[in-house]
Amino acid sequence: MDSKTQEKKNAALKAVEQVQSGMTLGLGTGSTAYFAIEAIGEQWQAGTLTDIRAIPTSEATATQARSYGIPLVELADVDRIDLTIDGADEFDPHLRLIKGGGGALFREKLVAFASDIMLVISDASKEVEHLGAFPLPVEVLPKAIRLVERVLTEKGCRPTLRTQKDGTPYLTDNQNYILDCQLGKIADPERLDLEFHLVPGIVETGLFLGLATQVIVGQGDEIKVFG
Ligand code: 5RP
Repeated sequence: MDSKTQEKKNAALKAVEQVQSGMTLGLGTGSTAYFAIEAIGEQWQAGTLTDIRAIPTSEATATQARSYGIPLVELADVDRIDLTIDGADEFDPHLRLIKGGGGALFREKLVAFASDIMLVISDASKEVEHLGAFPLPVEVLPKAIRLVERVLTEKGCRPTLRTQKDGTPYLTDNQNYILDCQLGKIADPERLDLEFHLVPGIVETGLFLGLATQVIVGQGDEIKVFG
């Protein structure tokens, strides 16, 4: 395992220490969340974790969770989520995040918003002073793609339609498109997020603001906890 992957795993295992029997869990998406689901799945199968139910943030995560027999429910079936563990593409000193590199931002945001505690897990490379070096993923209704591309370009972003290997548009689990928006340093993430939400056709942005409770970072053999 390379050092970055080991950092992801270390952060995931640290976060899973906060999972308790009886909890309703949100399960994130991506290569870091993978290790958290693996650890939860192993504890579930060993019987050291009991009476849990989980809401997956993507079909890929649902498949992984099902492979351990973790009971899955829909977000619509629960009032609240006790604890969610998810990765991020960037985080800043205010625990603001860019997410959606793996395309699951909409369900990830719904689950994060419904959660009492959101633990973000990361390797050391995702820590930034200012968000924005990572292109901001924006989920867009396919019908509105031209409109949203034009409006975002007028706002000074450089949006790129995310595509698959064969060149066809990447489709989210919700059958929407993603625009990856080059912004450079985002001076005011809260304002940008509000502005984007005013554009019809934008389903959700990858800005996660005021949602993370803690960011748990693997750095070499150490763990750093923010928040
Ligand atoms: C998926 C996400 C992921 O959490 C994010 O892209 C980080 O992925 P990884 O853990 O593979 O680095 O937001 O939509």
